[in-house]
Amino acid sequence: MRMYDVIDKKRNCGELTQEELAGFVKGYTAGEIPDYQASALLMAICINGMTDRETTWLTLEMAHSGKMVDLSSISGKKVDKHSTGGVGDKTTLICAPIAAACGVKVAKMSGRGLGHTGGTVDKLESIPGYCTAIGEEEFFRLVEKNGLALVGQSGDLAPADKKLYALRDVTATVKSIPLIASSIMSKKLAAGSDKILLDVKTGTGAFLERQEDAEALARLMCAIGEGAGRETVALLTSMNAPLGRTVGNSLEVMEAVEILQGKGPEDLRQISLELAANMICLAEKGTLVQCRRLALEALDTGAAFQKFVELVEGQGGCTEAVRRPEMLPQGQCTMDWTAPCNGWLAYLHTDQIGEASRLLGAGRQTKEDILDYGAGIRLLAASREMIKKGQPVARL
Ligand code: URA
Repeated sequence: MRMYDVIDKKRNCGELTQEELAGFVKGYTAGEIPDYQASALLMAICINGMTDRETTWLTLEMAHSGKMVDLSSISGKKVDKHSTGGVGDKTTLICAPIAAACGVKVAKMSGRGLGHTGGTVDKLESIPGYCTAIGEEEFFRLVEKNGLALVGQSGDLAPADKKLYALRDVTATVKSIPLIASSIMSKKLAAGSDKILLDVKTGTGAFLERQEDAEALARLMCAIGEGAGRETVALLTSMNAPLGRTVGNSLEVMEAVEILQGKGPEDLRQISLELAANMICLAEKGTLVQCRRLALEALDTGAAFQKFVELVEGQGGCTEAVRRPEMLPQGQCTMDWTAPCNGWLAYLHTDQIGEASRLLGAGRQTKEDILDYGAGIRLLAASREMIKKGQPVARL
């Protein structure tokens, strides 16, 4: 197989064979195919798409590019959750502890920020001491003991995705149904959970703005999951405004803690509860209606917050910083963006808010960038709110 021919075929809208996709995944993972050729193929896929058959082959090759984790030694149903990417999307920090407090085993490998969206691993690493790179034995031990561990993608889990994810982030090749589906599902299949909950975002802050594209992505990912023998459920949720009021790593941890302590914005609380209820339902703890009640109880009684503290403690993080948010990284300086005239906030360019947060240092411009965990944006007014000239609308 010549990589040149594979790129040329996809540029001409051809369907790649399983062998060609396997050759690409193996060659790129092994460092034999250079970034510039991989980038050219990714761009051709972005522009010309893939058939469902190609996407499934690509996903399975990427999943098998490294270790396939076997979680069967951990008791109970293991449920994983993944978002297709959003702005201010800190729901994992909330719904995973809620689900764990209800007896679900959550063995989750999360990602870093991608494009204008944030990543759970970056958020967790803003907690002083929190280690997202624990060994497999310790990971298993924590899931068995606490019901919950949140780690980054280890080097040997879907390494093809790890490399491609970082490359897509800096080559404008994120917004593609087959590339998003194969990226997410390769990790989910390799990570070994029995059941998978997908939060598929749609709207101005999502990678796929149009609802019909988000639906197509959801259907494709569910079909890939079910085809691999994993029950897979997708929720389609709005990303027409950032979730909650904060965007940026430590700011989002603080807001997640607020929700876990029974405070915080209602939109974030509601979506986190619904995601948690679906995870609990996937773990066969009751009907969806019963699981919604279980989720609410876990949040209202403080059991979910206690799980979050156990999570942070288990992975070496400073639990004091969770209780006293001023100990989390803070922005070095702030600037308020004020309304230029009287009026109302008609809508938010959610992707541009994510991009602004990335420019402030909360996300990466190149693969090597070091994040500023305290950087980000706090929204001081909500969509559709009346505002007066000079009123601060957002604090950078
Ligand atoms: N999340 C992922 O893991 N991959 C994508 O491509 C988009 C969101």
